[in-house]
Amino acid sequence: MTRIFSGLKPTGHLTLGNYLGALHRWVEADQHQADALFCVVDLHALTVEHDPARVRRLSRQAATLMLAAGLDPARCNLFVQSHVDEHARLSYLLECTATDGELRRMIQYKEKGARAAASGQSVRLSLLTYPVLMAADILAYGTDEVPVGEDQTQHVELARDLAVRFNQRYGHTFVVPKATRPPVAARVMDLQDPTSKMGKSHESGAGIVYLLDDADLVRRKIMRAVTDSGHEVEYDKERRPGLANLLEILAACIGGNPAELAPVYTSYGALKKDTADAVVELLRPLRERHAELAADAGYVDAVLAQGSERARGTARPRVDAAYAAIGLLPGR
Ligand code: TYM
Repeated sequence: MTRIFSGLKPTGHLTLGNYLGALHRWVEADQHQADALFCVVDLHALTVEHDPARVRRLSRQAATLMLAAGLDPARCNLFVQSHVDEHARLSYLLECTATDGELRRMIQYKEKGARAAASGQSVRLSLLTYPVLMAADILAYGTDEVPVGEDQTQHVELARDLAVRFNQRYGHTFVVPKATRPPVAARVMDLQDPTSKMGKSHESGAGIVYLLDDADLVRRKIMRAVTDSGHEVEYDKERRPGLANLLEILAACIGGNPAELAPVYTSYGALKKDTADAVVELLRPLRERHAELAADAGYVDAVLAQGSERARGTARPRVDAAYAAIGLLPGR
């Protein structure tokens, strides 16, 4: 059976981008068709300046939202990265496989590093090595497929390269994974700045739909989305990124095709209204279920405890094999 692994980083409140790019597919398809593991990758939240209490709160909130969205612990394995030591253990071996040059070429490192430096913050070493930890997350489980949004493609490519290199040098140990992307909305853009990604750690919330925003706020954000001064609704990502973004969001919500939806509309207002309605409807059950689950932290904690126990059992043999293959003396 195909093994799937993916994760969400608790660096901010989850967004519509996280949902349409990743979580939606995990719920609707992946957990039903594969042996799937989904992880709150909390160690990754420590690569930039962080507030410990906030990371803890966001980690529990992310797990609660994953359950509220419909991940079913009877169908998939939901757990927290830091509860499974194998991730950090394997990451070190992969650091001994990766090179400084290939990590410095990672786009997210360049962008986030430049942003940190520009605001006078020092850049944590873990921001550079982050993609190696991500490779460890993936490779520890013998993952075949990694369902992610477009922004993670380069990181999954690195995981592939490291798997191949390790296998060639030390003998076959890792499955070589591949990224899979949703057919639409693989890169949901900021509603106020449709040339940049809708990201949970952006400072301004006006262009970002958060999964827990109430219906009125979601409508307001979408109705105020930046488009352009034209009239005709067409799907052209290069020339009309704001419109294309709305069409993609609508298509993803209703299971349609953005290019086919465009000619249905004769005004921007009608497109925005339908998009707002579709997003509100999509998120309504999630928000309701989240409110129920948030009142039952014991249940969420129990799911996570069980999930990490199982994840440890899955990861350990492969990570132990990697320790042996690379030349370390067996100790346990
Ligand atoms: P993160 O937490 O930034 O995002 C989680 C998932 O949401 C997708 N995503 C988007 N998709 C479409 N449009 C957007 N605007 C958008 N924003 C985010 C991301 O592509 C991702 O699939 N490095 C990862 C977390 C990670 C991981 C892993 C993922 C760590 N280890 C192993 C897969 C496998 C990250 O920062 O995702």
